[in-house]
Amino acid sequence: MEARQLVQLAEQFGSPLYVYDAAKIQSQYHKLENAFGKVKHLRINYAVKALSNISVLKLLKQMGSGLDTVSIQEVQLGLLAGYSPEKIIYTPNGVSMEEIEEVAALGVQINIDNLSILEQFGAKHPTTPVCIRINPHVMAGGNSNISVGHIDSKFGISIHQMPHLLRIVQNTGMHINGIHMHTGSDILDIEVFLYAAEILFEAASHFKELEFLDFGSGFKVPYKKDDIHTDVEELGKKLGKRFNAFCAEYGRDLTLAFEPGKFLVSEAGYFLAKVNVVKQTTSTVFAGVDSGFNHLIRPMLYGSYHHIENISNPKGKERFYSVVGYICETDTFASNRRIAEIKEGDLLCFRNAGAYCFSMSSNYNSRVRPAEVLWYEGKGHIIRERETFEDIIRNQVIMDFEPAVAVTV
Ligand SMILES: Cc1ncc(COP(=O)(O)O)c(C=O)c1O
Repeated sequence: MEARQLVQLAEQFGSPLYVYDAAKIQSQYHKLENAFGKVKHLRINYAVKALSNISVLKLLKQMGSGLDTVSIQEVQLGLLAGYSPEKIIYTPNGVSMEEIEEVAALGVQINIDNLSILEQFGAKHPTTPVCIRINPHVMAGGNSNISVGHIDSKFGISIHQMPHLLRIVQNTGMHINGIHMHTGSDILDIEVFLYAAEILFEAASHFKELEFLDFGSGFKVPYKKDDIHTDVEELGKKLGKRFNAFCAEYGRDLTLAFEPGKFLVSEAGYFLAKVNVVKQTTSTVFAGVDSGFNHLIRPMLYGSYHHIENISNPKGKERFYSVVGYICETDTFASNRRIAEIKEGDLLCFRNAGAYCFSMSSNYNSRVRPAEVLWYEGKGHIIRERETFEDIIRNQVIMDFEPAVAVTV
């Protein structure tokens, strides 16, 4: 999107503001679909956790997407957006058996990632088709918080537990219709995908009634100019070919599934915040904005990089700034960044703000969360109102206390 369009949206809807470009989400979806054009049955299940606004879910539904969900509430959002239960996969971790049963009763595809629940679920519901999340023990992902397929990870059933897993399946007579893995986010090298895929194929060969293989996600998106990113065309060619060969060996055309979050929405998102104060100190120049890690936590949580531009003065002379938020503890978006000269009142634009930004926001410091706008067919559509003070107190139950009685000694 152009700087002037973003400035106009901030003038119309106020700041701070999240803006998502629908055309970018659509083009990313098509890119992935085309990359795997040689695979007969491809299924893209958008990872709701990345950005769960219902209008975004509806946009993806219109393109034929399914959904990857991790909580019953995400399932409910998907149903509300009009997805049929068969288009939703539920991959929880560490949730109760009751929640899993509740989701299964809705007709959603269940994906189980531990032997204890598998055994209990299989014994009670042997006819409900279940997918199994394996842990391939592959170290992949941009940082330790988002690497989830390694030996120390809490996710998935270890491939070394295959004999135990097979015994549970046999004893319960349950129907396994899918095998899944997700090794981590921001995977730099497609060889890692291909290596992990071989482990998935091996695991899959133990099951005779499969309908799909789910390769999770992990596509790395660029965060700055010339940044490394997953070459999905090359991955599509190589993995697509290997997948087709596996299907031939297996004797049936299976569905190849992915569940991308970042790949579909990260680059489509822009976060706009206004500079409240420019503060020169002995060590740096701070640009303090009308937001903080309550609205965009990724830099503080993961040390992630968000490119920042001064869209009020895009052609200004560049100077070095530390961009900080208003939260009452260390709250740094960027240190020592070259940004076009900033004046108080200017609007800064944070790039890659579509994935894990609004969805991880909070009311910390009792601040309201920003509005969200979808830029669709040349117009900004409000898809979430800015919160108000009423939202902050909505669920509080306010007690009354009698005036304290004076105690005389
Ligand atoms: C099981 C699973 N699938 C998919 C995703 C989406 O990953 P990404 O946003 O990197 O595409 C995640 C991310 O945490 C995940 O845990």
